[in-house]
Amino acid sequence: MDPADMGDDLERVLLSEEQLGARLDEIAAQIDADYAGRDLLLVGVLKGAVMVMADLSRRLHSSVEMDWMAVSSYGAGTTSSGVVRILKDLDADLTGRDVLIVEDIIDSGLTLSWLLANLRSRGPASVEIATMLRKPEAAKVEVDVRYVGFDIPTDFVVGYGLDYAEKYRNLPFVGTLAPHVYGD
Ligand code: IMP
Ligand code: MG
Repeated sequence: MDPADMGDDLERVLLSEEQLGARLDEIAAQIDADYAGRDLLLVGVLKGAVMVMADLSRRLHSSVEMDWMAVSSYGAGTTSSGVVRILKDLDADLTGRDVLIVEDIIDSGLTLSWLLANLRSRGPASVEIATMLRKPEAAKVEVDVRYVGFDIPTDFVVGYGLDYAEKYRNLPFVGTLAPHVYGD
């Protein structure tokens, strides 16, 4: 899909496919350098991290393993509660492994801080985080993120894995939606 396919549903493109790709080139080079000579296990968080995982992993110069987790936040509201339920657990045993969590976006950081503690309890050699996007709100929770693609404003964004009501994940860019899409 390109911006024209969105018609008037698109408010604006925040990050183009080219911008995302150029930043991933830089992050992949850092990861290659940081993990030289080590066997890396990438852990993607479904469903949003699918695009980042595919594009980041293909830029690495060493062969990595990939595994996936699906989690959901408990709680009544639409905001993240920090209480997390595992919908799909990893296949891999993390004992002694160098683990890199690959995420689409960190908003409150609650989901990720829970995930970090959960994975660290499994005896890995190391656990770090790579996220394509981070909202300033994330600074409110202590999550040490090793690799960040872009810090973005607090506005709700879609595309590049991120959805609104399960749609727009397959946009190759990150953008904001026009108000009428939300039913206003
Ligand atoms: P949190 O960091 O615990 O608040 O949860 C982050 C999760 O909320 C992400 O993995 C996304 O699934 C979702 N999320 C946060 N901000 C956005 C957004 O702007 N667009 C789409 N999903 C978002
Ligand atoms: Mg996510």
